[in-house]
Amino acid sequence: MVKLSNLLRGRDLLSLRHFTPDEIILILDTADNLKKLQKRGEKHQYLSGKTLGMIFQKSSTRTRVSFEVGIYQLGGQALFLSSSDIQLGRGETVADTARVLSRYVDGIMIRTFAQSDVEQLAHHAGIPVINGLTDLLHPCQILADLQTIREYKGRLAGLKLAYVGDGNNIAHSLLFGCAKTGINITVASPEGYRPSPEIVSAAREAALATGAVIEVVTDPVEAVAKADVVVTDVWASMGQEAEQAQRAGLFPPYQVNEQLVKHASDDFIFLHCLPAHRGEEVTAGIIDGPRSVVWDEAENRLHVQKAVMALLM
Ligand code: CP
Ligand code: NVA
Repeated sequence: MVKLSNLLRGRDLLSLRHFTPDEIILILDTADNLKKLQKRGEKHQYLSGKTLGMIFQKSSTRTRVSFEVGIYQLGGQALFLSSSDIQLGRGETVADTARVLSRYVDGIMIRTFAQSDVEQLAHHAGIPVINGLTDLLHPCQILADLQTIREYKGRLAGLKLAYVGDGNNIAHSLLFGCAKTGINITVASPEGYRPSPEIVSAAREAALATGAVIEVVTDPVEAVAKADVVVTDVWASMGQEAEQAQRAGLFPPYQVNEQLVKHASDDFIFLHCLPAHRGEEVTAGIIDGPRSVVWDEAENRLHVQKAVMALLM
């Protein structure tokens, strides 16, 4: 087996904000390589004997399965730790959970509500912590998106990406992912549902190094105009179930449908992190249509997270 770079060994993945453009490209290149090895059936057991603890305080299909299968393929094993089963769910502190797990496992992946919990976990853990989604961010998803975009477009810098919909965790991590890789990004969201101004300005600062243009608008047509990549996500995220009806009344102008994508580049690709609600944020014609790459995008969660684990743990 080719030796992997030690550049990221021991690091946490809490936000793409903390990674340089070169470090992100290293993760994507490693992911492409691991994908090739897996397709050819060649051994790549970089984490032989290692264990990943996976804490879930929210539901998951892709994140759970791709991390679990990913570490098996790397020669290690995973422990699924539902918060309803471990003492964290009964009030044991995040700090104590971090200290104890650090004595047993080699890395922790956590999906939870508050970004501050992930940061606290990382602060008290002596092992790498990977953010598997918070209310604020979803860095692993955006790494898979970048891998997918590069596979289809052959490059990242200079492309135009349109994100249409709620200024949520996906929008936030996309802002960082695009800023760091030189993709020009326009986010179109209704007033009151725009991405966090603090994240937008941090992304703009990161974009100074790559020349990426970061825009936030209200008009979805303006965002999608000549876009190479069109992305959307659910209108109500996990934890926002009570707001679902109110949001459903407000977001229909932001649906990605056949009319809207007429403004995109002819060879645009459509991405969605999934799960999707056909007929809400996207029509069946688009997500199941010829420009959609959502199944490759979902598959790449496996490859890119294997790269993250193999480089960090
Ligand atoms: N995209 C994503 O993170 O999916 P899951 O919620 O199924 O993990
Ligand atoms: N924004 C969505 C993403 C799900 C993967 C949520 O947080 O529910």
